[in-house]
Amino acid sequence: MAKNTSNLQIDSARLWGTIHDTAKFGATPKGGVRRLTLGPEDKQVRDWFRTACEAAGCEVHIDALGSMFGIRRGRDMSKAPIGLGSHLDTQPTGGKYDGILGTLAALEVVRTLNDAGIETETPLCIVNWTNEEGSRFQPAMMASAAYAGDFTTDDILSRTDAEGVSVGQALDSIGYRGAEPVGQIKLSSFVELHIEQGPILEAENKTIGVVDHGQGIIWYNGTMTGFASHAGSTPMPLRRDALATFSEVVLAVEKLARDHGPNAVGTIGEVVVANPSRNVIAGDLTFTMEFRSSDEATLAKLDRALHPVVAEIAARRKVAIDLDTLWRKEPTHFNADVIKAVETATNMLGYSNRRVTSGAGHDACNMNGVMPTAMIFVPCKDGVSHNELEDATQPDCTAGANVLLHTVLSLAGVAQ
Ligand code: GLV
Ligand code: MN
Ligand code: MN
Repeated sequence: MAKNTSNLQIDSARLWGTIHDTAKFGATPKGGVRRLTLGPEDKQVRDWFRTACEAAGCEVHIDALGSMFGIRRGRDMSKAPIGLGSHLDTQPTGGKYDGILGTLAALEVVRTLNDAGIETETPLCIVNWTNEEGSRFQPAMMASAAYAGDFTTDDILSRTDAEGVSVGQALDSIGYRGAEPVGQIKLSSFVELHIEQGPILEAENKTIGVVDHGQGIIWYNGTMTGFASHAGSTPMPLRRDALATFSEVVLAVEKLARDHGPNAVGTIGEVVVANPSRNVIAGDLTFTMEFRSSDEATLAKLDRALHPVVAEIAARRKVAIDLDTLWRKEPTHFNADVIKAVETATNMLGYSNRRVTSGAGHDACNMNGVMPTAMIFVPCKDGVSHNELEDATQPDCTAGANVLLHTVLSLAGVAQ
């Protein structure tokens, strides 16, 4: 007889334990995690994760970009598995939840099903995507984008970090260049649990965000070439100061995003002055820039408006500015059926909820291009993320994992 699964709950203490136990891989003194993709701490957490998936009865496959797939058998192995997961890499000063919650909750779902002796018709697949964060290698979410066919595997393998180490070399150095061609492990749908990384759920006292959209993103790399000269003897009108020019561009990006709001954000997060010296006017610098919007037209308008604004600043200051579009991802409209499955599971479990748009990029946005996909959000403290102070509560993480469990059960055709 079919088991009644509607009361099934994940093991909250076990989930909380795995989140905090694995936070030791790359733990920072301020209570966060520094686990740059494909570095030594990433290898530690990957080894842990592989062992845990195998102990939970999953067969672990690793693809040529190091993404990890733990397959739990279903009754019908001719069916493509339902994917659930996220990422285990972090920002340089990241927290304990961004990506980690979704990956470890996926493991917890499988452990819960094992404990309850529940078999599904459709197999399940726990996924840990390589390099979601995009801080060591660009772009972000590169392995899931390659899985979705947006980049070739060779292109991604050749991307280098600031030290000139390629993705291929980094994979080899930690032993995670897998045998499985990228995209070979077919999934039938994908569900990702994540902290919101924004303030809405907490402000409205909602436990679950049913994510229906993801913002589009454009990433640029920029260079400025002015003229390095003596800080004491070069009169102000004769300067071609790259750093002063840069500061105008920073404010212009902020203004563009504000002018195109409320559905627009713009950020310059990195700048490197070449050969900096306190008594030399900055001659050369490089910087990063991004715009995001959940609306295609707004994103396109921001991109169009940016170039003349930057050209005007460059001409007036006689400093050359080059902008390269490194990556562009259009806004995501998640799949109506998977959104419905998340919403139904949330309501069945009695959690307060609302629809939300994701401000952050996620591997789920790439998956949505090739399979039915949606996301589940839980609140995080003060909406803070990409910061060692990132925090979330055990009840909220547990609620999110329970919604993941019941969403997956309903996608797998298990009567609730
Ligand atoms: C990844 O976390 C991003 O949204 O940039
Ligand atoms: Mn993330
Ligand atoms: Mn992140």
